[in-house]
Amino acid sequence: MTQFDFFAPCPRGLEGPLATELRELASGVGAAAKIVPGAETPGGVHFRGGWAAAFAVNLHSRIASRVLLKIATGPYKDERDVFALALAQAWEEWFSARQTLRVDVTAVKSPLKSLEFTTLRIKDAICDRLREKTGSRPDIDTAHPEVRVFAFVTATHCTLYLDTSGEPLFKRGWRLDKGAAPLRENLAAGILRLSGWAPGQTLYDPMCGSGTFIAEATQIALGVPPGSDRRFAFEKLRGYDVSTWQQMKVDAMDLRRKAKSSRAHLGIYGSDISGDMLQKARANFERAGLPMPTLKQQDARSMTPPVNVPGVLIANPPYGERIEVRGRNARGEIVERGQGGGRDDAGGRGFSRAQPSAEESVDPEFFHALGDALKQRFVDWRAFVLTSDRGLPGLMRLRESQKTPLYNGALECRLFRFDMQAGSLKPNKPRPAVDDSGAEA
Ligand SMILES: C[S@@+](CC[C@H](N)C(=O)[O-])C[C@H]1O[C@@H](n2cnc3c(N)ncnc32)[C@H](O)[C@@H]1O
Repeated sequence: MTQFDFFAPCPRGLEGPLATELRELASGVGAAAKIVPGAETPGGVHFRGGWAAAFAVNLHSRIASRVLLKIATGPYKDERDVFALALAQAWEEWFSARQTLRVDVTAVKSPLKSLEFTTLRIKDAICDRLREKTGSRPDIDTAHPEVRVFAFVTATHCTLYLDTSGEPLFKRGWRLDKGAAPLRENLAAGILRLSGWAPGQTLYDPMCGSGTFIAEATQIALGVPPGSDRRFAFEKLRGYDVSTWQQMKVDAMDLRRKAKSSRAHLGIYGSDISGDMLQKARANFERAGLPMPTLKQQDARSMTPPVNVPGVLIANPPYGERIEVRGRNARGEIVERGQGGGRDDAGGRGFSRAQPSAEESVDPEFFHALGDALKQRFVDWRAFVLTSDRGLPGLMRLRESQKTPLYNGALECRLFRFDMQAGSLKPNKPRPAVDDSGAEA
């Protein structure tokens, strides 16, 4: 069986969790695919294997952003060397000139003056090669290409990869209803892994928005492969192993069908202040074919544990620059300020709107209250908060036990971990915040 080298890029900060995930895949659900995990490198993890390994990682990895098949690597001094490297590759064996193409170049410490020019030269080389071998050139389509070529350029070497994924893997195929600032699914899955949460433990997201954490957790708990509801670029490449893929896909669809009819009580809960966001979360669960989670409309400042057994709380609160805090401000006025300057999406609850002042946009009061809610009512819980605000523990008046740098797209964030131990504040007796039947209070 032909063996290939692959590279799986991921959000920066999640290379370790992705390497662990690939090792688990190699010995677990993807064992038959004979994945050989390789080295971690900033931005992703290498692995080796045949077509089946690429299928399995595309289908089962929750953390990878793509699976790239290595075509060639070589030293270069300038764009002419990069052009020659691309021209020498047998692209005609992988795809036809009738398919549309897109080329992307990423460079680290490269002496090349213009990445745009380098991209153009690689594209020209591939088109020249195909014209020479087949008589025609592929069209370029940057929006919806059928074939993508990625080049990674370091100070001395250029590596060419053919994409086997297509749409990035965080697009699971079911999200239509986005919140104002939804997390990427692979970042949410990586954070769940970093939190140590495991199916069977209580999970609560008090600012769940469109439901990314709880949807990922539900899929994990029910064993639904993240790629079971989407197509992949390898399905349009030449010579991929169709019968192995068909069998893997049938197995994945079976797991999805079983999940839909599951009556298992998963202990996964979400709440959000916005009724509109909860509607989006419900629509996403519906489209994903997942059993409906327990959701409640609630201000996170008055949150209480959904059950009496301590669990894991995960949240990415509104970031100053992306989406703002809603609810009552320190003066008791209701502030409803979503992205787009105060769209009323509170589900027609008749909130009156106060004009925000400059000081309110930082909203320390919200984070004080959030910290107090954790200290008073979440004793023995592990709480994880993803934020771009490094001063968040100070604002919450909590000391973090761990902080992990992570990137949400281009935004540098920290995942803060707080171990909620009984402190000077006497904890309140926990009362159910979310009714186990799924009804909203
Ligand atoms: C950054 S978004 C979370 C996005 C979410 N993780 C997702 O993937 O869609 C922040 C969320 O906090 C919610 N929010 C803002 N103020 C809140 C408050 N006082 N209590 C609870 N939720 C609040 C917003 O409605 C929004 O859904």
